[in-house]
Order: sequence, then structure tokens, then C-alpha cells
Amino acid sequence: MKVEFYGHVRQYKNIQQEIDANMQEVLLSGNYVQGPMLKRFEAELAAYHGTQYAVGVGNGTDAIWLALMALGIGPGDEVITHPNTFFATAEAIWIAGATAVFVDCCPKTKCICPDKIEAAITPKTRAIIPVHLYGQCADMTAIRKIADKHGLKVIEDNAQAIGARGPNFRIGQLSDAATTSFIFQKNLGTFGDGGALVTNNAEIDARVRKLRNHGSNARNVHSYGFNSRLDDLHAGVLSAKLKHIDAWNDQRRHWAARYTAGLKDCKTIDLPVELPGYRHVYHLYVIEVKKPEWRDSLLEFLNKEGVDAKTHYSIAIHQQAGYPWGKGARIVGGVPNAEANAACCISLPMFPELLEDEVDYVIAKVRAWDAQHAAQAPAGKGPAQSGALCPCCR
Ligand SMILES: Cc1ncc(COP(=O)(O)O)c(C=O)c1O
Repeated sequence: MKVEFYGHVRQYKNIQQEIDANMQEVLLSGNYVQGPMLKRFEAELAAYHGTQYAVGVGNGTDAIWLALMALGIGPGDEVITHPNTFFATAEAIWIAGATAVFVDCCPKTKCICPDKIEAAITPKTRAIIPVHLYGQCADMTAIRKIADKHGLKVIEDNAQAIGARGPNFRIGQLSDAATTSFIFQKNLGTFGDGGALVTNNAEIDARVRKLRNHGSNARNVHSYGFNSRLDDLHAGVLSAKLKHIDAWNDQRRHWAARYTAGLKDCKTIDLPVELPGYRHVYHLYVIEVKKPEWRDSLLEFLNKEGVDAKTHYSIAIHQQAGYPWGKGARIVGGVPNAEANAACCISLPMFPELLEDEVDYVIAKVRAWDAQHAAQAPAGKGPAQSGALCPCCR
């Protein structure tokens, strides 16, 4: 059997009529850039998040640096995030001209550890970018509290967790802006690139609208800006898909529960941790081997058996060759949890349209590898999950 990592074509076939109808509407309207379909989708996206505004932009990376620029954050400023995220989180800080400051993640959630943030704050710190990694929210309540105490902005990098929630907060509620990516692999993805930010701040909304369109909101009138717009064809695809996002996320949660039930007695791996009260939307289902030297062995075994497992992300940002490429960057307090995550992570296939047979096949293959190595397994958690627990992990 072959189990793919993504299922976009299955998803398209399931709702082809809805997507095709929206695309036809755009094609026949003659309005392809900043037209009525983009307006409609922005309104739907804001309503979905319960925010006042949503602005479509070219991609999820642009959404982050446009938010930073709209907040006036740039050269001479520091922005705190964590290094075990997709590269773009830090890239956006550098594009804005600011300095990236990395602190460690929590051993359980892999999101930024609120306990590590305050030690990294200096007079130059302007913002924190928590990433809702793998589909589970960072502890926004704790992060907002720190931000308020020190007068900092918060931008949620929500590329991976649209539809997730915290125990008593929604995405977009406790930050200045939440950004997202619509690249095709995401829980809400188009057939190409796309991104957006949602906010309750009218100034951020107005500034990003102008910045994304050559510094213009009236014909022939320009100020400093860029070209980073979400095309109407993509907006049409996303408008059709947004109606299904909660059901699709439920289905991801269903497969995650099946993986967890099938793998919970494995001796060689630690499973993803879903914190009580959080709605994890499993953009990725990431297991962690208990010995780093096992990672490539298990990955290769799964690939050879037809399971398209991957890693997210096997090289932490500060471990990339040439880091930090002449840009400003600091690591505060060490990042052992992030480094262990990079060394031990394996993502199993995860998308709503998976079939029961496929999930069970993946479980069987992981279990087969586990049975071969269980005798050498250390007792307790592996290095990626055995770091000191902070309040949100406890
Ligand atoms: C956490 C995170 N941040 C930012 C991005 C950047 O989004 P994009 O690829 O749309 O620029 C991605 C995904 O690609 C991501 O996973």
C-alpha cells in the first residue's frame, strides 16, 4: 500500500462543484485582482475568526512582515520567537529589518515557552511572535500577560492552526494580528500560494491594505509599498473551502485519535500531546523518537514501506548552514527542547481525506519498527519531551 502525505486532489474531487462554481464566477466577472471575490472572502474570514478585519495578501510570510511593518517594527527592533518553526517565521522578522531573538519551546506543545520569554526582553524588544505549531495554540493567555507587562505587540503566526482554539481564547482575540498561510498544504489551502491576516486594529488593517498594493488605496496615488495581494481566483477557492474547515479539522482530530490509540503502547516513540481544553487541529501529527539516532531509521523504514512520512522540521532555524546570514539574531537561555524536537521529529500522513485502511497501515508499520527496537528503548520520555515542564505544560 502507498499512503500519501497530503490529499489535495481527493479534497478537490469531494467539493469540485463548489470550487469550480466560484472560479467560474471570478473568471466571468473580469475582476481578478482586488475584486468582489476577494472582498467576499475577506468578510467571511473575519467572520470566521470573530475579528473586525481580514486582509488577503500574497502568502503567509508576507502576512507576518506586513504586520510587523504596519506596527512600525523594523531596524533596531527585536522580535522574540522560537527556532523550531518553519523558517518563514524568522525570515519575516529579517525581511522587516528587525532582529530575531530565539527562546526555547515547551517540551509538550513545541510552541514558544512563555516561561522563557521574559529573560529575552530588552529595551529593544517590540514584539513576540508565537507560532501555533502543528495545529495547537501557544499559551496566548500567558503571552498576552507578558506583552502587556512590557508594552509589546503580539503577532500570532497561525499558518498551521486555522480553526484551533485555546481553553478560553480564540485565535486573533489576544494578539494585535494573527497571520495565516493558504499554501496548498495547509488545513485551509488554495491551489498555489496565498495568505492573510486578521485583526481588530483598524490601523493595522488600513496600513496592510495599502502596503500590499504598492502603497495605494486610490488610483494613481502611492506611498511606500509592495505588491502582495491575494488573487480573486484563490479567494474563490478559499471561500468554497472555508465552509468545510471545521468538518475537515474534526476529521483530522479523528485520525489523530486513531493514531494515538494505535501507537500509545509503543516503547520507542513519544506521541503528540494535546493540552486539556485546547482544540488541536492537527495540521501535522508529529511523533518523536526516544533516541535521535533512531529518527532516520524509522523514517526510511516507513518510506520504504510506502508511507510518505516527513520531518517538520529536522533542522532548527539556528542550525541552518550560515545562520544568521549577516542578519541580527540572538538565542537566549539555550534551546534544548527545540533542538531535541528537530532531532527526533517524524510527521505521519495527516489530511482529512485519509482512509481508515491507510491510517491502520501506517500504525501497523510504525508498530512493526517499534517491535524491532523496543528492547533498546529508554524508560520514560525521550529527549524531546523530557525537558522541565512550564505552567502551560503541567
Ligand atoms: C509556521 C509557518 N509560518 C509561516 C509560513 C509561511 O507561509 P507561506 O509559505 O505561505 O509564505 C508557513 C508555511 O509555509 C508556516 O508553516
